[in-house]
Amino acid sequence: MSIKRGACVENKVKKPAEAAPLPPLGPLPFSLGEAIGMVDKVFDIDKMLKDEGAQVTEPYYQQSVLVYEQFYEKYLSVPGCMHFALNYDGVFDRKGFYGQARGIARQIKRMGGVENVLEVGCGKGLNTVRLAQGHPQVQFTGLDLLHEHAEKARARATDLPNANFVQGSFEPLPEDLGEFDIAFGVETLCYAVDLDLVCQSLARALKPGGRVVIFDCFLEERSDAHSEDMLLATRLLEIGWGISQGYRTPAQWFAALKRAGLEMHWDYDETAHILPNLRKLQEFSVKFYNDWKVRLQARIVPTLGQRNAVTALLMPYLFEGVEGENASLRGVSYRRLVVRKPKA
Ligand SMILES: C[S@@+](CC[C@H](N)C(=O)[O-])C[C@H]1O[C@@H](n2cnc3c(N)ncnc32)[C@H](O)[C@@H]1O
Repeated sequence: MSIKRGACVENKVKKPAEAAPLPPLGPLPFSLGEAIGMVDKVFDIDKMLKDEGAQVTEPYYQQSVLVYEQFYEKYLSVPGCMHFALNYDGVFDRKGFYGQARGIARQIKRMGGVENVLEVGCGKGLNTVRLAQGHPQVQFTGLDLLHEHAEKARARATDLPNANFVQGSFEPLPEDLGEFDIAFGVETLCYAVDLDLVCQSLARALKPGGRVVIFDCFLEERSDAHSEDMLLATRLLEIGWGISQGYRTPAQWFAALKRAGLEMHWDYDETAHILPNLRKLQEFSVKFYNDWKVRLQARIVPTLGQRNAVTALLMPYLFEGVEGENASLRGVSYRRLVVRKPKA
């Protein structure tokens, strides 16, 4: 399948430079139906569906420590990383895990005069630490729901006087956090329960002229042509990652951001750039499904952590769409949104 580069689809404010088409990724090893069958055999889909809507953000991350630290960071990503790599040439490379931080660095440069930057849902601090190293004149604050994540981020930044990490939720943001030129979140705002509360809180934390940058997964608009399997796989992805309210469409986010007084500036579909990472994750997960010895070893991982094998197997179908159907009929997309607070 040949993958198209991301494209601005809304408020065509700026367009990325035209580049060569990405190399084809090759066929997937199973059909989506077969992959769902594999998940059912190991995890019992009916049992998983009973957990739909459960508020499990904290237990999910607590039960996934081994998966992130002993598997993802060790074999695929970089220390402290809890997100997808952005590989703009379509070939998997660990440098891609710094792609989101690079995007924020460009935003800092473009805006000029940036003094304060907030990262919501900063995890173990990879993005903020990277940015603080490159911008000693800017003060960075990282906020995460989990005390353990804020602690680990702090430990990575002991030599960075311009990086500060606090435990707390973005729903809403603590009032005494301060005012920021940029507030950004990487794969975290999808956990928002009340979009309006979160968007209003972000808007309040911004200085006039400030920007919010969101790198995240979004639900594709539903169509009658979406297959039952694609709809089921989307629900399993949401349950697997503990997204209690399910993913929202870009339109739902735009509406909430607008209600909070923010102006849409940039919507860039980055899906094609995370696919090399997703393919690698799927390759690893296939070992889990095909080898009982790997599954036996994985028993030390608690239930919610084990469900990362569900999301890893299904993600390529969800983000690429399925061959034979209309290629635009993906379950979800990965996007970069930039919104700004009016100056006056
Ligand atoms: C997929 S991880 C991404 C971490 C980090 N942004 C990165 O790029 O490595 C999602 C993070 O969002 C945090 N999170 C989820 N809900 C949150 C909330 N309401 N407030 C603050 N952090 C939250 C989780 O604790 C987790 O660290």
